[in-house]
Amino acid sequence: MTAQLNPRGDVAVLVPAAGSGVRLGPGRPKALRLLAGEPLLVHAVRRLAEAPSVHSIVVAAPVAEVTAVGELLAPVAPVTVVPGGAERQSSVAAALAAVPAGPAIVLVHDAARALAPPALVESVAAAVRAGHDAVIPVLPVVDTIKEVDGDEMVLGTVDRAALRVVQTPQGFRREVLTAAHAAAADALTDDAGLVEKQGVPVHCVPGSEQALKVTRPFDLALAEHLLATGR
Ligand code: C5P
Repeated sequence: MTAQLNPRGDVAVLVPAAGSGVRLGPGRPKALRLLAGEPLLVHAVRRLAEAPSVHSIVVAAPVAEVTAVGELLAPVAPVTVVPGGAERQSSVAAALAAVPAGPAIVLVHDAARALAPPALVESVAAAVRAGHDAVIPVLPVVDTIKEVDGDEMVLGTVDRAALRVVQTPQGFRREVLTAAHAAAADALTDDAGLVEKQGVPVHCVPGSEQALKVTRPFDLALAEHLLATGR
């Protein structure tokens, strides 16, 4: 059954899903790789659609897959599908341009974080609603981190207490994200990086272990285990 989105919601979610996913090995574009029999993108969109604040979802698909992605997602939720770009950033910009009038909050969520729970969507959106221009979900760093030189010789040990691992969905006041993309010069791997360059303060909220990014075959196995055990 197609999940209905909330016409009174104040959140639009952009889903960049146009990457090739070479680190997963040869095969389909990453967002279309199967996790427990369904594409990563289907898992991701299903969870986004369950978040009560979500008004609209815009997916940036690989250019050759726009029609197929539209057909794939039609039974999951009402979504707009646009062709993505050569870089993640241009895929996000293409999706942002297709957001309908209305939502004051825009979240950007990688399709590769297929199991990010609806509660994480809500907590990021709530922090933007509470007055933060930019919000990212983060986890503490658990490993010891070393800085090394080009010869793999240790230069020093970084204080991990001050470090965070950054996830998506990342949330923004709509005008803030639009201005950051309009001003963007270099391609960055996350949207908070763009708004940081504009001098906008970025607020952290607790992330979720379930929002792991499926990048390598090990991550796919871990995500399958989480699904099978109902987490
Ligand atoms: O390659 P990486 O893991 O950083 O990709 C993060 C997300 O950005 C993925 O969901 C991927 O599909 C998306 N992406 C995109 N357009 C690109 C490259 C990546 O939408 N050109």
